[in-house]
Parts: sequence; C-alpha cells; structure tokens
Amino acid sequence: MTERKVVWVTGAGSGMGRAAAVSAARAGWRIALTGRREQALIETAGSAGGGLVLPGDVTDAAFVASAAGSVVAEFGRLDALVLAAGSNTKRRFWPDLDLEAFDAIVDTNLTAVAHAVHAALPALRETHGTVVVISSYSGWSFSPGAGVAYSASKTALGALCRTLNAQEAGSGVRATHLCPGDVATDFLEQRPVVPDADARSRMLTPEDIGRAVQFVLDSPRHVRVDELVISPVSQA
Ligand SMILES: NC(=O)c1ccc[n+]([C@@H]2O[C@H](COP(=O)([O-])OP(=O)(O)OC[C@H]3O[C@@H](n4cnc5c(N)ncnc54)[C@H](OP(=O)(O)O)[C@@H]3O)[C@@H](O)[C@H]2O)c1
Repeated sequence: MTERKVVWVTGAGSGMGRAAAVSAARAGWRIALTGRREQALIETAGSAGGGLVLPGDVTDAAFVASAAGSVVAEFGRLDALVLAAGSNTKRRFWPDLDLEAFDAIVDTNLTAVAHAVHAALPALRETHGTVVVISSYSGWSFSPGAGVAYSASKTALGALCRTLNAQEAGSGVRATHLCPGDVATDFLEQRPVVPDADARSRMLTPEDIGRAVQFVLDSPRHVRVDELVISPVSQA
C-alpha cells in the first residue's frame, strides 16, 4: 500500500486555504493546518475528517520553522505546501498609507512564504514535493485597487516561485504561482469599499480554488504548473 501524502496548509482556517485543505483530505491526503485562530483550524479539521492543527502566526519565523518540523515529526514526510495566509489593509494607497500595516502585509504575504518554503525544502526534496503559493491576480497583472503593499508583495511571489523552479528543478521540487481574481471570502472585508452580496454572488468560490489546487497537487511528478490565473467570468 502506498503511503498517504502530506500537505501543510497556511491560512487553513478560512477561505481558500480551508477549501484546499478539505479538498486534499477528500483526495486522500493527510493535512496539517496553520493560522492564528485555533478554533477555525479545528473546524477545518472537523470538515476534513481530521488533521494536525498547528496554530500560530506565519510572521513569527521561529514558529514557522518549528511548525514545519512538527509536520515531519508527526507524519514522517511532507509532500506539499499550500501557502494561503495573506492580508491587506483598507489604508492601502499612498495618500493615506499606513506604514505599520505595510510592514505587516509584506511580512505576511511575502516574507512568511519564503520562511515556510525554506523550512520545508529539505523535506520537500525527499518527496519531489509541490509548493502552491496563493498569490493574486494583482501579482500577475497590475491591479490599481489592490494597494501598495499588497501589489508589491504579491508581484514578488511570482519571482519567488520562479527562483524555486529554476533552482530546485534538479531536486524535483516544483512551485505554482496561483493567481485568483475575486473570490467571495472574508478577505473582502479588508477592501475600502466592501462588496455586497450581489457582487459576491458573481465571484469565484473558495471551492473553485480548492479544485484548482488539487489539480496541481495531483499532477504527475514530471508536470509543473508554473502559473495559474483564475478569474470569475464576470470580472472585467
Ligand atoms: N478573496 C480574494 O478575492 C482574493 C483574491 C486573490 C488572492 N487572495 C489571496 O488568497 C489568500 C487567501 O485569502 P482568502 O480570500 O481565502 O481570505 P481569508 O479567508 O481571509 O483567508 C486568509 C487566511 O490567512 C490567515 N492569516 C492571515 N494572517 C496570518 C498570519 N499572520 N499568520 C497565520 N495566518 C494568517 C487567516 O487566518 P487567521 O486570521 O486565523 O490567522 C485566514 O485564514 C490570501 O493570501 C489572499 O491574499 C484573495
């Protein structure tokens, strides 16, 4: 019998991270779940039929290193990362930029991704593992409404994935820069103008992205999905 694969998901307590974790569990993967709200992770694990709950802040480098170690200690292997933890701020434009928020967004969206990949790489090399970085449409094509820190941090994720693919091809590790358009999640509460129910009904669902992540995770070992841009048809 082949051993079940293991994925560590950040931002797993809600939205796309949660949908990806549930989808992976349904496909037979064992899941490890990170986010700051422990109760939300417990609920995700409940919906997924179980999972290792590792609550913590991805901007805490020591936590990220120890969480990666905990996943490998618990399961004996690590096959994939789905890095969905992210943040933005309502004060996102130069005229009213909040610099403290700028630092926090870059720490969450970019630096924490580098830390998680760095911590997991030795284990990923062992399994020819997969890294799925949940970036943004604004990391693929400049989006004026996304804000200074968000646009800069998400755009940098494209380069981060490409460096991984260029430098780790020999070890069989592959990375996907996944760029969703509008998705109806709690994340929309961070917009200066929060979309109403009607607007949300035309957006992607977290499960749309969960399905796309699963496609990447289940792709044969010799296949690399470098970049995936997914938008609702309604998005102009
Ligand atoms: N919704 C959209 O339209 C959209 C579009 C493109 C890209 N994205 C990106 O998609 C990703 C997932 O967002 P979502 O839309 O699914 O919204 P979401 O439900 O708000 O998910 C964001 C997750 O990140 C976690 N998180 C935030 N800061 C964290 C930190 N410092 N440490 C650990 N976990 C942290 C949150 O959990 P805790 O608060 O419990 O920590 C939350 O579960 C984000 O990276 C976002 O930038 C969203």
